[in-house]
This record gives sequence, C-alpha cells and structure tokens, in this order.
Amino acid sequence: MLNKGLYNAMITSVGHYVPDRVISNKFFEEYLDTSDEWIRTRTGIQERRRLDKDIPTSFMAVKAIEKLLQNRGIGIEEIDLIIVGTVTPDMIYPSTACIIQEKMGATNAWGFDLMAACSGFIFSLTTAIQFIQSGSHKKVIVVGADKMSAITNMEDRNTCLLFGDAAGAVLLEPTEDKTYGIQDAIMHIDGKGGKYLHQLGGGSLHPASHETVDKRMHFVYQDGKTVFKEAVKGMADVSYQIMKNNKLKPEDISYLVPHQANLRIITACADRMGISMDKVMVNIHKYGNTTSATIPTCISEYWHEGKIKKGDNLVLSSFGAGYTWGSILLKWAY
Ligand code: UT7
Repeated sequence: MLNKGLYNAMITSVGHYVPDRVISNKFFEEYLDTSDEWIRTRTGIQERRRLDKDIPTSFMAVKAIEKLLQNRGIGIEEIDLIIVGTVTPDMIYPSTACIIQEKMGATNAWGFDLMAACSGFIFSLTTAIQFIQSGSHKKVIVVGADKMSAITNMEDRNTCLLFGDAAGAVLLEPTEDKTYGIQDAIMHIDGKGGKYLHQLGGGSLHPASHETVDKRMHFVYQDGKTVFKEAVKGMADVSYQIMKNNKLKPEDISYLVPHQANLRIITACADRMGISMDKVMVNIHKYGNTTSATIPTCISEYWHEGKIKKGDNLVLSSFGAGYTWGSILLKWAY
C-alpha cells in the first residue's frame, strides 16, 4: 500500500511518439519461417514501428515530452525532475535523462534512467510519486521510451517480430484532493526470471568483444513459453490484488492499462479481474511490444481520442524481464 504524504500525485498531461515507418507482419513472412496468421493469433500484433538506424531513443522521448508540454501549456523550464524508464538508453552513460535535459534545455531539472524492462514505466512512475507526495517537487516528467529495434536480432523469429519502437510521457503534479491521482502501487521483482529473458552482452560481466558480437549477446533473448506462463500469472495476480486491497469491483474500474506483450496475456488479466475487453486499453496490434513505452502510449492515445474522463479509475499493470511486475491504481484528475 502506498504511504501517502502531504499530497497525492496526479497525471496532468500526456504525450507520445511513434516513428512513421510501419513494419507489417508480411515483412517477416518474406525472409523468415513465419506467417501473418501465426503472429496475429499467437500475439495479437499486426504491425509495429521502427525508428531509423542512426536515431536514438532520446529522439522519441523528446517528441513525447514536447507534446506533453504543449498539451499542458507550459515550458520545459518548469520541470523539476525527469525519470526515464528504458532498456535501450542512447548509450550506457551519460543517462538518457541527461541527454533529454540537454536537448530540451531543461535547466531546472535533474533526472535519471530507471531500468526495469517492461515494467520500466510503472517502476519509474512509482518512484516519481514519492517526490510529489513529499512536497519536494512540483512538476515531474516520467517517460517510457524504447528503441527495441536496436537490440532485436532480425534473424530470430522467436523475438524479432514481437518488438517495436515508441515513447510515451506523463506529467505528475501534486493535488491536495486525495480522492484524485495515484491511489495505490504494488511492485515486485524476482531475479530467478533472469535466465528466461535477458540481454547478456555489454555489461561488466560480458563487456563488448568479438565473442559477444559473434554469439549475438547484444540482442534480446527470450524463452517465450516460460515467460508467457509467468506473465499471465504475475500480471493477473497483481491486478486482482490491487482491486482487492482497494475494495474495487469490476464495475468500479474504467480501464485496465496493461503492458502490451501479448494479447493473450492481456485477455487473461482482464478475465481474472472480471472486466470486459472494452474496458482494456490495447494498442499492441499497431505497435507490438514497445517495452517501457506500452503503458504511457496507451494512456496518451486514449486521452487524445477523448476516451478518458475525470474520475475514471485506471489500473496500470505490467510484467517483464527481471522478473519485474506490478500494478498502479489511479483516479484520473483532469
Ligand atoms: O514483455 C516482456 C514479457 N514478455 C512476454 O510477456 C512474452 C511472453 N511470451 C509470448 O508472448 C509467447 O510465448 C510468444 C509469442 C513469444 C510465443 O508464443 P507461444 O504460443 O508461446 O509459442 P511457442 O513458443 O510455444 O511456439 C509454438 C509453436 C512452436 O512450434 P511447435 O513446436 O508447436 O511445432 C514454435 O516452433 O510455434 C512455433 N513458432 C513459430 N511459428 C511461426 C515459434 N515462433 C514462431 C514464429 N512463427 N515466429
């Protein structure tokens, strides 16, 4: 249960960015032993977006933040803190937060990157909440941004067709009205999951070498079947738990905002919560799995389409590498 401070943290603006280049399932059919039918039925993905080779993750994050600032009608100098959930930083260091800060001229902000794979956004959001609740920060940006095309092996049919590139951002501000904003957060990690989903190369254990390149250790590895089973259980359990802890019935939930890894995982989660699919935010068919960006791009798209209204209860849930998983409950405030 979230320990409430002086204020509640509420989302007051959103923005997202997806690259223009669309990669359809057909693209993979042409050179891999796969089919549009398999990809659609096993994952729910129809297409995904790819950023150009020489353009980094920070480019998408900046675009998403620009949109967010425009929507709120404020300048970047008002921002106190920038937290970036990503597993595809522009480089190991400096952090992508520093790069964004410099690119945007965010002269009054500090910031950092947070790595929690597909839970990167909700772990970052849970971290950001603390700075708002304590009263120490007034405007905090949380970005989920990943250029998954930079770390996917295009010859591996088990992974290459799953991922896409995108960024989504939210602005957090304090409210004294504690009925609004983020109400609860439950986060988990379990390092036993590491062997089933990882990128081994490039860290201090396996620094870049001819060997790490030859063995394709700079790409995503996933034992899909094992992760699938854990994801179904982990995401459904934690989503149900946050409902139970807050005495919410299915009819009290306006939207489930699930991490978009597989439509079958999303459906299982909705089933466990007892909610119908029309109350579930879905964009996996258009973008695939964009890791840290799935949840904020969903929220931003639905908001831009006028589908979220003040007072709506949203449950944000994710499961990803680590394992990392969790759920956040919030009441939409604007
Ligand atoms: O976001 C972070 C967390 N990640 C996840 O939550 C992802 C979790 N995993 C998944 O979403 C699914 O496991 C996948 C989409 C990755 C795979 O789906 P699956 O239903 O678990 O497939 P599978 O690996 O059990 O493979 C089923 C069959 C196999 O053939 P046989 O052994 O039944 O003859 C595979 O060889 O599908 C075959 N297969 C493919 N066929 C066509 C595996 N990949 C492909 C492919 N195209 N790309």
